[in-house]
Amino acid sequence: MSIIETHNLTKTYGRIEALKGVSLRVEKGQIYGLLGQNGAGKTTLIKILLGLVRLTEGAATLLGQPAGTVGVRRRVGYLPEDHQFPHYHTAYSLMDFYGSLYGVPASVRRRKIPETLELVGIAGRMHSKIKTYSKGMKQRLGIAQALMHDPELIILDEPTDGVDPMGRKEIRELMATLKQSGHTIFLNSHLLGEVEMICDRVAILQRGQLVREGTIAELTQQKGLYVLRLAEGQSFPVEAVTQRGYTVRSLAEPPGAVEIAMSDGQTIDPVIQLLVERGLSLRHLVEQKQTLEDVFMKTVEAAEPGVDRQRRRGAARPVGGGN
Ligand SMILES: Nc1ncnc2c1ncn2[C@@H]1O[C@H](COP(=O)(O)OP(=O)(O)OP(=O)(O)O)[C@@H](O)[C@H]1O
Ligand SMILES: [Mg+2]
Repeated sequence: MSIIETHNLTKTYGRIEALKGVSLRVEKGQIYGLLGQNGAGKTTLIKILLGLVRLTEGAATLLGQPAGTVGVRRRVGYLPEDHQFPHYHTAYSLMDFYGSLYGVPASVRRRKIPETLELVGIAGRMHSKIKTYSKGMKQRLGIAQALMHDPELIILDEPTDGVDPMGRKEIRELMATLKQSGHTIFLNSHLLGEVEMICDRVAILQRGQLVREGTIAELTQQKGLYVLRLAEGQSFPVEAVTQRGYTVRSLAEPPGAVEIAMSDGQTIDPVIQLLVERGLSLRHLVEQKQTLEDVFMKTVEAAEPGVDRQRRRGAARPVGGGN
């Protein structure tokens, strides 16, 4: 049994199609990341899983039950996006309140509250009012609240939003510990570097459609990708190289550099030869390591041509543009 399963999941809000036939599966013990630009449909998908929003078409199951089934919610911890806790609470009283809602006995709560707040690093301030907390402290409290009733599945919508680098590392370590003890984590994040470090699998949503899915290793796997730069003042023969079946993309960094992607069976040698024939001087050539961020940017660009260049207008020179 998969922990989360969606099949052709579709959601429309009036004329807005927030999800268009999304099918994915999350297995027990995985840390699964859902990525996508603002408005891609990530929060909508999470809210459907939790029964907070009704699906339009398709199916979604959580722990083997249709999404929204009463009783399943108790086995799931949830950190909402933009959560607002009542400011008159302290971390302790808030945890006590949520714990009682989830049916955690008082004696367990007394032990579990300081323990969980310690895990997220705010135990020292647990008796201060939430209104005196920094953004990152509130976020840590949000995570603690999601763990209070020891759920099997933890759903985190932007878990490290506003958390400082040390805190983010602590949260990653906490997620790794939870995974080791058999918990499943499903998260949304815009911090691709972090997702790459912590997730087993990721799915990329683009305007409500699932456009890529796989393990981090599968997605970031390199099949011949090079970064190349010519001597100053020389322009790269984009057209000639493209005609030979390579994909060329200009990079913002380092200035004047291009990225060349091979198709199956191609090597970089014919490109070098062509440069030599044209009397161009190579200054830099390295095989590129693809990061999750690279994969994400390319996926978005492929699904929506021009979006990358428009967004970075001014930062990068167009491909083939002279000096
Ligand atoms: N209650 C609602 N009523 C109408 N439209 C909505 C509602 N909630 C979300 N939408 C729309 O659905 C789409 C997906 O929104 P969603 O919040 O799921 O995106 P997201 O991927 O979580 O984005 P972000 O990264 O900004 O959090 C957007 O176009 C949004 O405007
Ligand atoms: Mg969202």
